[in-house]
Formats: sequence, C-alpha cells, structure tokens
Amino acid sequence: MAKAIKEHLIKKLATGDFVSGQILGDEIGVSRAAISKQVNALSEMGLDVFRVTGKGYKLVEPLELLNKSKIQHILAKDNNDAIVEVHNIIDSTNDYLMRRIPNHIQNGQVCLAEYQSAGRGRRGRQWVSPFGSHLYMSMYWSLEEGMSAAMGISTVVALAVSDAIKLLYNIDVELKWPNDIYINGLKLAGILIDLEGTPHEPCHVVIGIGLNLNMPNKSGALVDQPWTDLQRHTTKKVDRNTLAAKVIYFLSKRLEQHKENGLESVVTEWNAQDYFMNKKVKLITGKNETKGVCQGINAQGALLLNVEGELTPIYGGEVSLRGDA
Ligand code: BTN
Repeated sequence: MAKAIKEHLIKKLATGDFVSGQILGDEIGVSRAAISKQVNALSEMGLDVFRVTGKGYKLVEPLELLNKSKIQHILAKDNNDAIVEVHNIIDSTNDYLMRRIPNHIQNGQVCLAEYQSAGRGRRGRQWVSPFGSHLYMSMYWSLEEGMSAAMGISTVVALAVSDAIKLLYNIDVELKWPNDIYINGLKLAGILIDLEGTPHEPCHVVIGIGLNLNMPNKSGALVDQPWTDLQRHTTKKVDRNTLAAKVIYFLSKRLEQHKENGLESVVTEWNAQDYFMNKKVKLITGKNETKGVCQGINAQGALLLNVEGELTPIYGGEVSLRGDA
C-alpha cells in the first residue's frame, strides 16, 4: 500500500501543482496522516517538497518523470528497439539486472530508475541517488570474448556517455581512467561494471551509469568526492528522457563497435579526451601508491603510466587515480 500511495503522490506532485493531502487521501481511500507519512518518505528520498497550510503539498520545481514510451519513441527514430524498463523505486538498477541473469534478459536490455535505495559506486562506495534528479541506468550485455575483454567495456561506455552529451549539449567532457566522466575536473558521471561468468567463456555484463543532472543541495552534501551536474553547464533544460534515449542509443552503438572492431578502434578517441593525459598522477592500490605520468590507455584498456621513464600498463582492479601536482 505504501508503494501505491507513493506512486500516486509522485504522479500528482510531478506537475508542480499543489496536491491536497485530504483530497488525495479520499481519492485512494487512505487517511491524511497516511499521505503525510509518504510525503515525508519521498522527502527523505530527495524530493524537494514543501507544505502550505490549507493548500497542501507542492514540489519546489515541477518534475519531468522518466517515461518508457517517450524513451522508446526517441530510440525508434534511431532504429533501436531496446527493451526499456522504468522503475520509480528500486534498490540498484545494476542489482536488478544481475538478478535477472541468465533467463530473463536480452542483450541491450535497459533498466532505469527514479530512485535507488542501495545505489552502488565503485570500491564499495554508495552512489547517492536522490529521486528524479539524475540518471540511474543499467544495460545488460553478453560479452562473447569473455571476462578478459571486460576491461575495455568501461572505455566504450565512457565514450557513449560523452557522445550523447556532445550531441545534445555540445559539451566536451573529460574521461578519467578507468570509470569516470568529468567536466572541468569535477565528477559528472561514474560507471560500474558487474560481471558474471568464467574467464574464457562468454560472460554476462551489467553496465551501470550514474549521471548527475541536477543535484539537490541536501544530496550534494552527502557525496564524498568533488562533483558537478550537467544542468549547470548548459542553458538548455536537460530533458531526462531524451538524454536517457541518446545514452542508450550510443551505448548500444559503441558496444557493437567494440564487438566488431575491438578496442583498438577507440583508443585514439579516448586518449583525446583523457583528463590526465601527460599529467603527473598517483595511482593508489590499497595501501600502495605509484607515481608517474599518464600516457593514456592501450588497446586492452590498460592505463599507460610512465614510471621513471618506463611505460607500465596498469590493469584495472580496485585502483584509484589522482592528480599529483
Ligand atoms: C562510480 O563512479 O563509483 C560508479 C557509479 C555507478 C552508479 C550507477 S547508478 C546506476 C547503476 N546502479 C548502481 O547501483 N550503480 C550504477
């Protein structure tokens, strides 16, 4: 019941009009107190909602909800017929698709959500996922080449996000190996790749993308790294459905390109957008720190680090890369 009340409330509030707790309660047969409880829960999820006595509840700004039909309509114009699911509330879009492996999923299938109660970042971090503010998206992909090819996947995913942002907003983003997308040195988006399978056989990949669009103040304070969001870099209103459709479109295209031509075909492109190219960096692996100069990536997707004159490829894992000015 709580879920049904929340879903009803979300639809009504999204318009930006006042919603009377009494009228809404009567409509769905629950008390005003039950409505108030769910409004509080939505507020905890990051919705910026306020109350005026005698008028009811209202969102600070109207909300463009994600809409499966709109997304699929835009995709169809690009000849893409991906299966798209849109959820209001989910634990994590990556976890949801992982649970559907191996029987209930198709290549290129997408899950989007307005809110994640257990959004995951890399290295065990939480991904702060306020309701209706950003893009939380996962796509399933079957990787014929097996797990060894998975490192390159982050590379093509980052390029797909970059393609969509360039096309819609003419913004050049920066890429940070292995999984981050930046604008002016601040994190705009992160990629989380989950794998299932054995090393030398086709394996299951779930590609997760979290893309900051319009960070509410309350949520911004919870993020533990310097961040930015897309809306502050463009005068165009960020249309979440169009952006979601374009990210899905470019992601499918880049993954096909990777399947057909391997990673070699994108190395030059990725290096041209590398945030740390020719800069001094520190590579942190657990308690170890390696200093060097960044030289882009190689055809396996490994980071090339010049350590005291020797070019060393760094292969993924739980690593973190920082500037070393
Ligand atoms: C990172 O930079 O640490 C990766 C962040 C990935 C976040 C996305 S949001 C959609 C998908 N579902 C998750 O739980 N995580 C990824």
